[in-house]
Amino acid sequence: MSNYDVVILGGGPGGYNAAIRAGQLGLKAACVEGRATLGGTCLNVGCMPSKALLHASELYEAATGAEFANLGIEVKPTLNLGQMMKQKDESVAGLTKGIEFLFRKNKVDWIKGWGRIEGPGRVSASSDQGSRLELTAKNIIIATGSEPTPLPGVEIDNQRILDSTGALSLSEVPKHLVVIGAGVIGLELGSVWRRLGAQVTVVEYLDRICPGVDAEAGKTLQRSLSKQGIAFKLASKVTSATSSATGVQLSVEPAAGGTAESLEADYVLVAIGRRPYTQGLGLENVGLSTDKRGMLANRQHRTEAPGIWVIGDVTSGPMLAHKAEDEAMACVEQIVGKAGEVNYALIPNVIYTRPELASVGLTEEQLRAAGRAYKVGKFPFTANSRAKINHETEGFAKVIADERTDEVLGVHLVGPSVSEMIGEYCVAMEFSASAQDIALTCHPHPTRSEALRQAAMNVEGMATQM
Ligand code: FAD
Ligand code: NAI
Repeated sequence: MSNYDVVILGGGPGGYNAAIRAGQLGLKAACVEGRATLGGTCLNVGCMPSKALLHASELYEAATGAEFANLGIEVKPTLNLGQMMKQKDESVAGLTKGIEFLFRKNKVDWIKGWGRIEGPGRVSASSDQGSRLELTAKNIIIATGSEPTPLPGVEIDNQRILDSTGALSLSEVPKHLVVIGAGVIGLELGSVWRRLGAQVTVVEYLDRICPGVDAEAGKTLQRSLSKQGIAFKLASKVTSATSSATGVQLSVEPAAGGTAESLEADYVLVAIGRRPYTQGLGLENVGLSTDKRGMLANRQHRTEAPGIWVIGDVTSGPMLAHKAEDEAMACVEQIVGKAGEVNYALIPNVIYTRPELASVGLTEEQLRAAGRAYKVGKFPFTANSRAKINHETEGFAKVIADERTDEVLGVHLVGPSVSEMIGEYCVAMEFSASAQDIALTCHPHPTRSEALRQAAMNVEGMATQM
């Protein structure tokens, strides 16, 4: 029996950050992870491999299409998909090893196995090889993450009908990829395979893509992706899928009901959301249960069971790596009696397509629904000199400020590298900045970040460059 101050179940961004912070604070910490490598969904089959393929496919498309030629670079690239996948896998392996290093550095024990809560303060860990270890812990943190939501009638076999993990490791470029769900995964992985040569059709139940993002930003992104060749079937539902060795036959109907049409694809990606993962966790042994969506509730990261905490995708809030990380820090700080807190109002959201979409804070739709008076400043990337020079002029920066106080309430960016720029507004908004604060802050020229300042200036109609 090994005794710990804190045992963490799951080694994803929630779990590994909690473990490392616990180690830093001098707690005796163990992280139980059953996967062969640390890093969870994010490092192994999520954020990182998807970004590796987005980066490589973006360069491939730039080289094959008119983009390089227009810059005066004449090349005739050929796709080596095997190498593209290999470099992705190598980068992922490097990252997961990095977490092992950080565990050693911070004296965290990685217990290899699947954790189960056996009772208050008691956890068992069973490895795939059949060994079993018992641990005691003053605190248990559940960080077991999420899994793809299944779609009845469209069974994922990861041969022809794929989840995101399958779509990150195909050994050939699909001729026709049908993506079910126009959310983040559908748009990112749909973009990857389109750039590599696939015809891509996205079937979405709602009448818009990316529900929840600012409607104007979502529309702009959809227009851009359509121009790139992605076909969208909105307000449509897939009612059945039959797969064979060579492809899949899908039946698609209007969401509201009506005549069905048939779609043929050689691969289908099901990306209709993710659901919390708590299988085999032994929640019943400490009187815990999940809600209808499989979610474990929390109050400031505490579950209803004393000494048991919960963070990341398995609990409420956006299913994002940086949200899991923030909760990990706040949870462990609370365990040691510090005042850890997460500001859920300011968790940024990014879609890593081209152009990218990045946002933080409230949307116009949310403000209208709340009856709150606001003003908007917008600035298009067509008027930004750096974006123009780089031939990347799609999109805009939009800043929404309170009508009376001028406090920035929401920022919505569609454009080049906006994922790297949204952090500026996260910091500003944490300090309750007004649009004028940003408008009066010097930004380097020539950079795309100037568009963010000009948008803030335009809240009072004083953008100088358009
Ligand atoms: P996870 O990362 O899911 O980790 C949970 C871990 O717990 C897993 O490793 C699992 O094996 C382990 N586990 C489960 N049960 C047990 C048990 N009983 N015992 C031991 N171990 C257990 N988010 C972003 O912010 N940015 C992105 O760009 C992004 N891209 C994504 C792309 C894809 C394709 C996908 C699928 C997701 C993406 N996400 C992204 C979401 C992100 O991966 C998750 O929000 C994040 O990984 C959640 O972290 P977590 O620690 O809560 O859970
Ligand atoms: P999602 O929630 O982003 O999008 C799912 C989409 O599927 C929605 O548009 C929804 O309306 C639609 N849908 C639901 N049921 C449907 C049906 N039966 N038929 C057709 N469409 C249907 O979920 P997604 O893309 O699977 O991603 C899961 C989560 O992973 C994201 O919500 C996000 O939290 C995380 N993620 C984050 C990324 C990032 O930060 N860049 C990248 C990838 C994933």
